[in-house]
Amino acid sequence: MERTFIMVKPDGVRRKLVGEIVRRIERRNFSIVAMKMLTPSRELAEQHYAVHKGKEFYEGLLEFITSGPVVAMVVEGDNAIKLMRNLMGATKPEDAMPGTIRGDLTISTRENLVHGSDSADTAACEIVLWFPELC
Ligand code: RTP
Ligand code: MG
Repeated sequence: MERTFIMVKPDGVRRKLVGEIVRRIERRNFSIVAMKMLTPSRELAEQHYAVHKGKEFYEGLLEFITSGPVVAMVVEGDNAIKLMRNLMGATKPEDAMPGTIRGDLTISTRENLVHGSDSADTAACEIVLWFPELC
């Protein structure tokens, strides 16, 4: 069993796709073991995306991710980190395959509906950052 941090980004909430995204996670038989809605503070967003600090898209990304409520989740299952990344699809719309969340539902590089941890280390850090009450 593995745990990963998943977030429906503000565009997903605005587009009323929370249910659609949760449905795709659950029908793959992953368990949602924690879930909450919040509007991320600038500080939380900076910590979450610290790896991208200094990149040309960083400021726009922070503005986007703090622009409204998100749905933060801890998702559990065998190989959840890798399999959830597969379920999400690639970052760029031209690479996101049909059948994936991004490939089916969005055509924007920035407003790409969903975040998922990209490694075991990142997952551990992100779960502590977003769900300190669980740890
Ligand atoms: P995420 O971290 O949100 O799960 O997405 P990811 O791993 O697929 O992509 P990453 O490279 O970590 O980028 C983080 C988020 O920044 C926005 N982005 N905008 N060129 C751009 O305008 C650009 N590149 C990335 C996206 O929201 C991306 O998911
Ligand atoms: Mg990433």
